[in-house]
This record gives sequence, C-alpha cells and structure tokens, in this order.
Amino acid sequence: MRVLAGTDPELAEHGLRTARLARRVGVELRMTRAELDRIEASARLHDIGKLFVAKEILDKPGPPTAGEWVELRRHPRIGFELVRRHVASEVARVVLTHHERYDGTGYPSRLSTSEIPIEARVLQVADAFDAMTSVRPYQPAMSVGYALEELTRYAGTQFDPVAVSGIVRLVEKGGRSVASSHGAASEVAV
Ligand SMILES: [Fe+2]
Repeated sequence: MRVLAGTDPELAEHGLRTARLARRVGVELRMTRAELDRIEASARLHDIGKLFVAKEILDKPGPPTAGEWVELRRHPRIGFELVRRHVASEVARVVLTHHERYDGTGYPSRLSTSEIPIEARVLQVADAFDAMTSVRPYQPAMSVGYALEELTRYAGTQFDPVAVSGIVRLVEKGGRSVASSHGAASEVAV
C-alpha cells in the first residue's frame, strides 16, 4: 500500500475511499467480520495492476480504442499476480474478480452470480459509486442521486442486486456523512 501511495496517490486514494465505503456496505448487509476484513483489504489493492497500464490510456478522455481496452482489461490479472504472494488467497481472488459482472459478461473469466466472491460483488458497487462521484481527468463528478440511479439500473446485470440494495440503504440512511467522503458530491442532498 505504501508503494501504491508513493507511486500513484490518486489510485491509492480511490482504493482507500472504496475500502471505507465497501466495508460500510458490508456492515449494512450484515456480513461476517472475516468477510468485512477481506473486502477492506482487497478494495485497497483492487486497481494496483493499473500501475502497469500506460498512464495515457488511463487518463485518456473519451472511449478507449480496441487495443487500449485489451491493455486496460489486463489490470485485474496483473494485480492478482502482484498480490497473491503477500495476501490471503481469498483477498487475491477478489482483486482478480473485481471486473466480473453478475450476468457473466465481465472479465477476465466471465464468471457470474455466486461464482464471483461476495466480497468482490460488494466491492464493485462501492468502486462504481466512488468512480461516479469523484472528479476524474475526463469527467466531472456525478451527483450521489445519479450514482445510485445508475447502480439500480444495472442491478441484476452488472451488479449483484443485494449489493446494490445495501449501498442504496446505506447512502439513504447515512446521507451527507456518506456523501461527504466522496469529494464534490458532498454538497448534493441525498
Ligand atoms: Fe479496476
């Protein structure tokens, strides 16, 4: 984690915010302590493989080319290879599967529903929420309300519906306290 913070602070910050949020979603879903610890550890590291993807591709405005997609899609497996010797195998597996989709159309292995670790399914909604509500080089922050609508729209296809219901309940209950840890979204009423 220190290496990540020193090399790419923005990536490290995204990991930390996602870890905090994902753990809170897990608590909302009454997950076990062991599951919560795995969610937090894997969320911090989930995008570490992006350190090996060209910065121009990561920061590019607009959609990537087909070749750039191939590069981008390597990051879960690169991350898995980087962390597997240093963390529990269940945590490494969450890093590997964080871009699988509930409907089986994700990558790298097209896993679906319960084939995807529950920790990864919870991490995915927190990851997407943080991505949408943070300012990125190529897009302004979206509102918290819009982010929740998007997650709900893709419940059952991209995301586990149970994980989506968990983050929606958490944000609706937590209101500003959840939103305020998400940068520009802090002024948006939930
Ligand atoms: Fe990722």
